[in-house]
Amino acid sequence: MRRPVDTQTRLYGIIGHPVRHSLSPAMHNAAFLAAGENAVYLAFDVTDPAAALAGARALGIGGLSVTIPHKEAVLPLLDEVDPPARRIGAVNTVIHRDGRLLGANTDAAGAVRALEEAIPLAGRRVVVLGAGGAARAVAVGAAERGASVHVANRTPERARAVAALCGGTFSGLSEMPGEADVLVNTTPVGMAPAAGETPVPADRLPGFRVVMDIVYAPVETRLLREAAAAGCRVVNGLRMLLYQAAAQFELWTGRPAPAAAMEAALYRGLGEEG
Ligand code: ATR
Repeated sequence: MRRPVDTQTRLYGIIGHPVRHSLSPAMHNAAFLAAGENAVYLAFDVTDPAAALAGARALGIGGLSVTIPHKEAVLPLLDEVDPPARRIGAVNTVIHRDGRLLGANTDAAGAVRALEEAIPLAGRRVVVLGAGGAARAVAVGAAERGASVHVANRTPERARAVAALCGGTFSGLSEMPGEADVLVNTTPVGMAPAAGETPVPADRLPGFRVVMDIVYAPVETRLLREAAAAGCRVVNGLRMLLYQAAAQFELWTGRPAPAAAMEAALYRGLGEEG
């Protein structure tokens, strides 16, 4: 079911490459419909983000999600970038307001909300695996909630840079702490088609209370399966995907996101994909 498109309809979308597999159109169109917003959301396969943003300005596009590989490249193209996104060094949300393009990052808020469904972060110890853009968002988000963060990465020098952003400690992967309240995998290890892999051996998992994976294909990664078997509480990657989208909806519309409708659409979209 969809609402008729007319001359007042506002256009939103996602820019990325590749982007046809994205679950964001399903979530955002369901959100617009549930909230009675006269808006539609499309997927744009974009290789030139500067041209895409110029087009968005010219056409009066209301806002954009930004995904791989453009999250860093769009920063210098925007009129303003909010302080958390600047600190993370990545923008996943563009808001077009009063002729200006504003950049924000809702990955941090999405990760925090997903984790805090399982455990409040204030005063907790969080181990982040990986040191890319997703790791920066999780590390900065957790530190802002009052967690102490350790960043463990295959290349320790990159972990050092992320730790410096959030006042945390760092190490290589094999030297990560054996115990903490929370473990978050932000590396692609375990993603289909390499779903047989895991970033952490199963015998190390009992040292963690909550384990989150940002990989969501498959939804239950080997890491999460082994963590559940070890007695950890697990949080799958769809939670962060859902909540970063909900935060985008709120930035674009100024209204609370219809999270239940977005979640239902996410699972429907996943079914159609797989
Ligand atoms: P993103 O910005 O999307 O988070 P990225 O910048 O490519 O992605 O970062 C991916 C992270 O996963 C990196 O920390 C990478 O480790 P390196 O910094 O050593 O490259 C990590 N990573 C990728 N493949 C990995 C693997 N097979 N084993 C361990 N870590 C891996």
